[in-house]
Formats: sequence, C-alpha cells, structure tokens
Amino acid sequence: MEDPSSSAVNQEENSISLVPTALVVIGIALIAFVLWSLGIFQEDPYIKETLGLQGSPEKGERLFRVNCVGCHGISAKGLLGPDLQEVSESLSQKKIINQVMQGRTPPMPSFQMEPEKMADLLAYLDSLN
Ligand code: HEC
Repeated sequence: MEDPSSSAVNQEENSISLVPTALVVIGIALIAFVLWSLGIFQEDPYIKETLGLQGSPEKGERLFRVNCVGCHGISAKGLLGPDLQEVSESLSQKKIINQVMQGRTPPMPSFQMEPEKMADLLAYLDSLN
C-alpha cells in the first residue's frame, strides 16, 4: 500500500510542473494573436484583388516606360536600379507588389496605383523572361 501522504506530495509536484507548460501555451497563443492582429496571416485585400486580375503586358509596358525606366532602364535591363528581366522568377508576385508599393528601399519611391494597373505591370514583368 502506498503512503497516502506521499501521493498527495506527488500530486502537488505534478500540478506545479503544469504551470510553466500552461504559461508557454498562453505565451504562444498571445504571440499568434499579435501576429494575426498585425495582419501577418491575413491576405492583403489589395494584393488579393491584384492577383485575381488578368493584366495586360502592353499596358504594363507603357506604365513601366513612364514610371520605372528612369531607374530600371529601357526593357528593364537595369540602370540605377537592378535588372528586372528575371524578377518574376526570383521574387513572388506578392513581393514585387510590396516592393513597388512600399518604397522601403530608397531611392526607389513608392507607387500607389489601382489594382488593374499593378496587374498590368506584373504582366509586363512576367512577359520579360
Ligand atoms: C528612383 C529610382 C527607381 C524608380 C523610379 C523605380 N525603381 Fe525599382 N528599384 C530601384 C532600386 C535602387 C532598387 C534596388 C533596391 C534594393 O534592392 O535595395 C529597386 C528594386 C526594385 C525591385 C526589386 C528587384 C529585386 O530583384 O529585388 C523591383 C521589382 C522594382 N524595383 C520594380 C520597380 C517598378 C515596377 C518601378 C516602376 C513602377 C520601379 N521599380 C521604379 C530604383 C527605382
């Protein structure tokens, strides 16, 4: 027969060791919630709309000539900015959209445009390789 007082002690140890586990679970849940509320797991509606559109490479080329050629060169072969010939292979469509929209890498400015125009631009960049 087990001594009843020793089993009470064991139970207490078990419930104490649950506390750190519970804290870790709560911590992970909190981090996940913060990431979720920052929109990390949410699809940006602008990106979603743009990717759902069929862009026209011809219109995209015109947009590119007006806005991008100065830095990325005629036919996107690179000048001050990098060569974009292979960019739709090296970057995801989402990353290209963010690059164009956010202007986080000066001197490249940020461009705000309607999803239709962004889709045209992506179609043009896609047509390059
Ligand atoms: C004032 C100059 C400038 C203009 C205008 C400009 N860019 Fe850029 N762009 C850059 C520079 C510089 C980089 C490199 C930034 C870096 O990697 O830090 C870059 C990077 C990029 C990249 C990422 C390339 C890669 O391989 O990582 C893409 C895509 C891009 N530009 C697209 C465009 C498009 C599309 C336009 C027109 C709507 C445009 N850029 C207009 C200067 C410019």
